[in-house]
Amino acid sequence: MSRLVVVSNRLADPRKPAAGGLVVALGEVLNQTGGLWMGWSGNVLEGGAPGEGELHLRQAGAVTLATIDLCREDHHSYYHGYSNSVLWPVFHYRLDLADFNAHYIAGYRRVNQMFARKLLPLLRADDIIWIHDYHLIPLAAELRALGCRQRIGFFLHVPVPPPLIMAAIPQHEWLMRSLFAYDLVGLQSEADVVHFKHYVHTEGRAEKLGDQHVRAFGATVLVQAFPIGIDVDEFSRLTRASDAVETCARLRAEYSRRRLLLGIDRLDYSKGLPQRVRAFRELLERYPENCASATLVMIAAPTRDNVHAYTDLRQELEGLCGAVNGDYGELDWMPLRYIHRMVARKRVPGLCRAAAVGLVTPLRDGMNLVAKEYVVAQDPQDPGVLVLSRFAGAAEQLDEALLVNPYDTQAMADSMQRALQMPLVERQERHSKLMERIRTHDVHWWRRSFLSALQAAND
Ligand code: G6P
Repeated sequence: MSRLVVVSNRLADPRKPAAGGLVVALGEVLNQTGGLWMGWSGNVLEGGAPGEGELHLRQAGAVTLATIDLCREDHHSYYHGYSNSVLWPVFHYRLDLADFNAHYIAGYRRVNQMFARKLLPLLRADDIIWIHDYHLIPLAAELRALGCRQRIGFFLHVPVPPPLIMAAIPQHEWLMRSLFAYDLVGLQSEADVVHFKHYVHTEGRAEKLGDQHVRAFGATVLVQAFPIGIDVDEFSRLTRASDAVETCARLRAEYSRRRLLLGIDRLDYSKGLPQRVRAFRELLERYPENCASATLVMIAAPTRDNVHAYTDLRQELEGLCGAVNGDYGELDWMPLRYIHRMVARKRVPGLCRAAAVGLVTPLRDGMNLVAKEYVVAQDPQDPGVLVLSRFAGAAEQLDEALLVNPYDTQAMADSMQRALQMPLVERQERHSKLMERIRTHDVHWWRRSFLSALQAAND
């Protein structure tokens, strides 16, 4: 059997709780298959020449971890710069927040070239290579330029924007062309596949648009949607474990006569956090019976806080949260609990289970695995209700959630109210349908279907 080689910018870091669904999902995949996992070590070295990071190899069970340090300059231009100030905002439709600084692209190319140089000598002839996310789009092209002939697949965890938004990136054509060095490009949703094909058709002068094969830029690539899932059995096990059970019991005791609404996100502008606070305020205003009885718990984990857009967002959000508590709070009730820290993963299912309403309301999101985790953590006899943005990739699969438009404050407040009031039978019906979909499309289904499509590609 071929060995699986996974490459992603972010790797599991035993020193820190996992931020973001990508690392958790890839950790679960590699725990099943074993193999090699290459990525950034998380270290930023003060000295060190750009593009010359040192490679460290270490064994963690059946997985070999190959990590690369970044020097300050590469971290600035590749990670904060091109990846998170150009690609992240544009792919999330936020041209207003993009910083098209012309210096960033050199760092992005340099780090991708460095990853290719470091990976090549570690490869075996029959390895299957699976590269992840927007940080590493040109990696296959760089590997091919060095002579790599193994099969290479790519999975993009974030959305593909419509072509006229993509075209704002000065190097958009080069980026999209580099995707044609892969044998298979996996996207989160059918909407992303449509945008990809539309781009290639209008900007890439596609020669032929087959069902799944796309031919453009003189090459052919297979493009398909593979919506990522969670490890349902593992998350159910975490839900039954003592840390989660205690967390749930403690919250229920503390909020005994109150209903909890819960959001767990990174503090990212794609997550629609100010919009959610405004909608919660509207809920208290329009449905005052919730005053003193509903509490919104917002966990917004710190992330990329050297990028301006994130510091600005934090200020805005903290102002909004403070105003809700100031305007509506009572001596014995604060409507909103805002926590700007990461919660330990083992507590997440307990938090979810204690909440009557799970709020996953991004303005745009590739998938959003918290939506799936919230559902799996519920008690099937008395489940909570998922309120889900129609702009999350998860909405294509989870249409028994209450789907909302996060820009529509009043409609979102109405959905929160509907979720709080939903009768038990309706909650049970929606929950069992959601569970079925999440279980059949779990993370192992995702891995199997992507890898078998990659094996079969170009046969
Ligand atoms: C998103 C991205 C991932 C990223 C994660 C956390 O889920 O798709 O690639 O790892 O956010 O962000 P960070 O910048 O901390 O890796």
